[in-house]
Amino acid sequence: MGNEETERKLVCLYTAVEIAEAVQRLAGELDQDYAHRFPVLVGVLKGSFIFLADLVRRMKVPLRSIEFLRMSSYGSATVSSGNPQITLGLSSTAVAGRDVVVIEDIVDTGITTSAALTYLQDLQPASVKICTLLDKPSRRQVSVEVSYVGFTVPDKFIVGYGIDFDQEYRQLPHIYTLD
Ligand code: IMP
Ligand code: MG
Repeated sequence: MGNEETERKLVCLYTAVEIAEAVQRLAGELDQDYAHRFPVLVGVLKGSFIFLADLVRRMKVPLRSIEFLRMSSYGSATVSSGNPQITLGLSSTAVAGRDVVVIEDIVDTGITTSAALTYLQDLQPASVKICTLLDKPSRRQVSVEVSYVGFTVPDKFIVGYGIDFDQEYRQLPHIYTLD
């Protein structure tokens, strides 16, 4: 079903220019904190793919590698019964002994990010920190320490710049709220 058949309303929250400024700032923070450390960036698929692609092109510190994780979603349930599984994992040596930065599109309840952290900790990295483009702290159910945040967003459903609603809208260059 195409967009034109729905009543959904997109309202721009951050323009591509504002996003680029936030990405540049985050790249600068990571460059400072990870100088001479050859970090491994781990993008959480699918939502982080555009953010990660832009972020790495703004970073100046050399990266050891760029890896990807995919977690099963827990559907739209609002109860904290979610226990996301890893559907695409890392090789056992990808992060061992490395300084890891997890790249997220949005930290909402925190359930997915905290499951990703648990998975990564088992692979014995030297350190793990979280960098998210969007943080929605009002929805948090599981506490997670987020070290790098692009924007703190209100409790609204968000799409664009890699972030979807039912796989739609990822390609939009700006970030929108969806009514
Ligand atoms: P969690 O609730 O923190 O576990 O969020 C898990 C995932 O849900 C995020 O990585 C997104 O992929 C998705 N998600 C959470 N909030 C939104 C939203 O506002 N728009 C689109 N996807 C979202
Ligand atoms: Mg995600």
